[in-house]
Amino acid sequence: MSTIGSNDDIESQEKPFGSESEFVNAGLDKEKMPPKLGSVLVGGDDPFLPREGKALTWTSLNMSVAGKKGKEDKILLNNLWGEAPKQEITAIMGPSGSGKTSLLNILAGRLQTTGSLTVTSDIRLNNFKVDPSNMKVRKQIAFVAQDDSLASTSTPRECLMFSAKLRLPRATLERQLIVLTDRLLEELGLSHCADTYVGGPLLKGISGGERKRTSVGVELVVRPALVFLDEPTSGLDSHSAKQIVKLLKKVASVGTGVLFTIHQPSSELFSSFDHLILLSNGRVMYQGSVGGVNDFFGERGQPVPNHYNPSDWIMSVAQENSEKELELKRFFPQDERTLSKALTKEKSSRDVDEMGISTHVDGVAKVDMRKASMITQTLLLYEREFLQIKRDVPATGARFGITIFVNLLVGLIFKDVGKSDPATQSNLQSQVGAIVMIILNLMFGTAQPALLSFPTDRPVFLREYTTNHYSVISYFLARFTTEAIVTFLQTIIGIMITYFLLGLKANFFLFIAICYSLAMSSTASAIFLGCGVKDPNLANQLMPLLFVPQMLFAGFFVSTDLLPVYIRWAQYLCPLTYALRLVLHAEFDDCSKGGGEAAENCKDLLENMKIKEDDIWWYWVAMLSCFVVYRLGALFLLKRLSNKFYN
Ligand SMILES: Nc1ncnc2c1ncn2[C@@H]1O[C@H](COP(=O)(O)OP(=O)(O)OP(=O)(O)O)[C@@H](O)[C@H]1O
Ligand SMILES: [Mg+2]
Repeated sequence: MSTIGSNDDIESQEKPFGSESEFVNAGLDKEKMPPKLGSVLVGGDDPFLPREGKALTWTSLNMSVAGKKGKEDKILLNNLWGEAPKQEITAIMGPSGSGKTSLLNILAGRLQTTGSLTVTSDIRLNNFKVDPSNMKVRKQIAFVAQDDSLASTSTPRECLMFSAKLRLPRATLERQLIVLTDRLLEELGLSHCADTYVGGPLLKGISGGERKRTSVGVELVVRPALVFLDEPTSGLDSHSAKQIVKLLKKVASVGTGVLFTIHQPSSELFSSFDHLILLSNGRVMYQGSVGGVNDFFGERGQPVPNHYNPSDWIMSVAQENSEKELELKRFFPQDERTLSKALTKEKSSRDVDEMGISTHVDGVAKVDMRKASMITQTLLLYEREFLQIKRDVPATGARFGITIFVNLLVGLIFKDVGKSDPATQSNLQSQVGAIVMIILNLMFGTAQPALLSFPTDRPVFLREYTTNHYSVISYFLARFTTEAIVTFLQTIIGIMITYFLLGLKANFFLFIAICYSLAMSSTASAIFLGCGVKDPNLANQLMPLLFVPQMLFAGFFVSTDLLPVYIRWAQYLCPLTYALRLVLHAEFDDCSKGGGEAAENCKDLLENMKIKEDDIWWYWVAMLSCFVVYRLGALFLLKRLSNKFYN
């Protein structure tokens, strides 16, 4: 009979070994025995600190999707059972669509019952029934997704350091973090490229294998009890694949259970696995040691031919036989008794946290075990964002280069237009046209990169957020600060060029203030839209949605009085409307108060644009309200999105 404990019990069990005999009894090398409690962090700088590890077992794991229009439910995973023993590497194999990724996601708590999808399971850690979506359980499982979502302008050393600083206890010393990162880089075989950028579409960086090892390393800093990886060798050459598996064996050798999906391993790689789960049509075709594969298949009339890669053979048996044929041959065993339901409940100690590090030093001083504060999180994120702007020369160069080029173009075409006499209608029209061009250009130039930036950075944010690096607020604050600075620089540079080339009359600082407020408000609306979109290409398609309505409601193509009543309210959501009124007022107010033909023209212009002296403060409030509403909306969207994990 199994003991069912709470998630709290489970969490408190992960700890370094107390005595030497305990350590040796667990089959670990005595030489690798960690130092005794007493230093601030036991093995805080050793990513390969031997640990007890945890055995993961699961039974009755089912997943189905509701059938459409009265059709039967589709069963995707059918009564799966299996285990990921500690100190061993377990491979999940099976034809495409057999359910490998789904199984891994369910075990990691990333896939649960939602909408038409139903998931049921009995998952146990050291024989304690657990809910894998519970934060305390999730913290012990490292998940390395198939796509490497790393910050492209960071180096492997910075990626590891970032993860360590944000996820290890506050009491960890800088010196320990440096030793930890150096050791990890060495063990991962990344020392030679530790200071090369990870790289991205426009930025040359490290190789695919090195990127994958960095992704694994980022998860190893917290010394998880279990490591899950979805296709860690896909897209890699055989040497890189071998390096990854060697690394996983090393991770397992210190006590961690490693579970991963894999396609087409070479026979050498296959024989290095400890444990194998073979899935076919969402069912368990084989579950057991790799050494037992030959006998199992032989007993069922499908012996592995001599000189044949066993992994190719078992896959071809799975693919070339129908489910019925496999059933007749007695595949799909349901032998859950073989699962090692070994460990009994241990005495829980409140002094040991989920990473297995004591909270006491010599029983006297209490060490701060909390992870990085919100201020540290924000500062570290801010530093990384700033470095990204500095290092991503193509993107930053394009942003500022285009600003300079377009503003120069407007400046040269409309040169000295501000000095022309508004008594002539054509001069006045040119002045208005030039001002409209300046602010439209500013709106496009600042909002467009902001719209694309979130969907582009989304995978990195989601990975880091769901693996407990930082809070949504910290991320939001850091992004906001960097955007505010870059937008300010872009505004200053652009306006400096056009303001003086055009010879405008509005107060320079007031002009800058209006333009900056517009840029920040439009950026906020772009980020709001960007937060709701998964893909940068889709964000690109949505671009007109951001700009066309603003231009329609701004009042210079069509007077707001002529807009249909049922849609007139939309002007209040458009910061461009208010910015245009403010900037035209700033430029033509003095002229309208002068005398002669020029004053008449300026007065008419302000009246036609519905700009009233008494409403100036209201335009400011309305523009800044747009900023606040869109920002809060974006924060809300981000929070909702991040709670939905990766998909
Ligand atoms: N959320 C979902 N809703 C509906 N069907 C799903 C969902 N997730 C997975 N499936 C279906 O479940 C089956 C198994 O998918 P899964 O991605 O787990 O396969 P896989 O073995 O990882 O395949 P591959 O080797 O191609 O990565 C597929 O038929 C897939 O379409
Ligand atoms: Mg898959």
